[in-house]
Amino acid sequence: MLEGYEQVMTQDGSPTLRLLRSGECMHSISGAVSETLYILQPGFDWLVSQNLPIRLCSVGLGIGYVELGTMALFGREISRINSFETEGPLISGFQDWLNGCESDFYDEVLNHVSQSSGVQAESIRDRAAKTIGAGKWNFKGSILNEAPDELCNMISFDPYSGKSSPELWTEESLSSFIKRHCAPESIWVTYSSKPLLREVLQSHGFHCVLRQGYGLKKESLLAIRST
Ligand SMILES: C[S@@+](CC[C@H](N)C(=O)[O-])C[C@H]1O[C@@H](n2cnc3c(N)ncnc32)[C@H](O)[C@@H]1O
Repeated sequence: MLEGYEQVMTQDGSPTLRLLRSGECMHSISGAVSETLYILQPGFDWLVSQNLPIRLCSVGLGIGYVELGTMALFGREISRINSFETEGPLISGFQDWLNGCESDFYDEVLNHVSQSSGVQAESIRDRAAKTIGAGKWNFKGSILNEAPDELCNMISFDPYSGKSSPELWTEESLSSFIKRHCAPESIWVTYSSKPLLREVLQSHGFHCVLRQGYGLKKESLLAIRST
């Protein structure tokens, strides 16, 4: 396992990682794969209703549930995926596995995405390989530093909380990220319901809705900006 993390089994049987320095898990303890697909689905539905291909900005890559879930569940064209992640070993571990290196851990993540989505694991992997092969999937570092090469129309905002990543949860960081990465017509999906995030999104023209949260979380934010 990656140094600095421990593997944790969530209640739907899918694995996640806990960051040892803060004790924070990457996903809800109620279910890593179930939470991810629950949070993502309204984003896919909205893009389909707007007849748009996906240009996904994923913050952060973590162990790749968001990206694999997108490969499984978004039936239309994938134009772009920008996966942001500060931890180099998480990027290289995921990329090595996609390139064919063995990893029981990532195989398990993929199998849970497959079972929960009803899409064959091989199809998910093939689509991932094709998206990378076509140069449509970029792996990048911190959202605080990286410039986008193309604005995105779906933002999966899934960083740690302010306890583990305080630098992200300021008005200035969030505003700067929105200006640099969000297309005029775009949707945010996130586990968070933080009032600061809602206020910043609203100040950038997003209409915010609080939906039922997943697991122990009471509410989660969904934000849409239409032209
Ligand atoms: C909750 S986990 C993401 C789980 C992931 N979405 C998945 O599906 O497995 C949060 C991730 O955000 C990363 N992260 C923290 N700060 C970041 C930043 N400034 N830019 C990009 N990624 C960041 C962390 O290293 C961590 O891997």
